[in-house]
Amino acid sequence: ARTAAVIPAAGRGVRLGPGAPKALRALGGTPMLIHAVRAMAASRSVSLVVVVAPPDGAPEVKSLLDAHALPERTDFLVVPGGETRQESVKLGLDALPPDYDIVLVHDAARPLVPVDTVDAVIEAVRAGAPAVVPALPLADTVKEVEPATAAGEPEPVVATPVRARLRAVQTPQGFDRATLIHAHEEITEDVTDDAGMVEKLGRTVLLVPGHEEAFKVTRPLDLVLAEAVLARRRL
Ligand code: CTP
Ligand code: MG
Repeated sequence: ARTAAVIPAAGRGVRLGPGAPKALRALGGTPMLIHAVRAMAASRSVSLVVVVAPPDGAPEVKSLLDAHALPERTDFLVVPGGETRQESVKLGLDALPPDYDIVLVHDAARPLVPVDTVDAVIEAVRAGAPAVVPALPLADTVKEVEPATAAGEPEPVVATPVRARLRAVQTPQGFDRATLIHAHEEITEDVTDDAGMVEKLGRTVLLVPGHEEAFKVTRPLDLVLAEAVLARRRL
């Protein structure tokens, strides 16, 4: 069973603030995307990485990958992305050569995921699960609300799900290739993660333990945390 990783990296990073596209912003002097590619290539099982670049940034991403050393065993492809993450992932899947039957989908915005988490996901897909997601318990209690119609308005609470039954999901999410491709063909509703599409097909999605360092760099404070994690690793 050969494994490929698709890395959606086509987002602008609006919540991170003005600057280069998020995936190209530096972390410890190296673009976030390169960290994410290395995190996938660190797994001995991953033999292809498909990077989904910002729509007009594919040549730039290609030269970045050429300039940064990757393990000999890992091939890479670069394709331009789309308007939404879902479209970008689809464009990455369209570029997959036929001989890969396990596919990981990993956010470029999670540059620091440890290789043990990557391997645990692959292992669970190999063991037969159609979709596998790394996940962690929540620290905060979560409320469901009636969203405010204007910014800053108070929002009425609708429900409080029992926190102990909730999990925050991360990437890489791992899939049986045919299942993921089928999900992208069938499901047209907007989703915020790939496993959500497989779930909508009625297939089983399994969670394995995630890792704190697999957090998503979303807002400026996350960059501070990411730099600190990197600095700690380099000690
Ligand atoms: N992504 C993508 N194509 C898009 C939008 C997002 O490939 N059209 C990717 C991002 O590059 C990122 C991952 O999906 O690696 C997770 O998305 P998110 O953290 O939301 O990144 P952005 O969409 O770039 O950030 P924001 O929502 O703050 O603009
Ligand atoms: Mg986004």
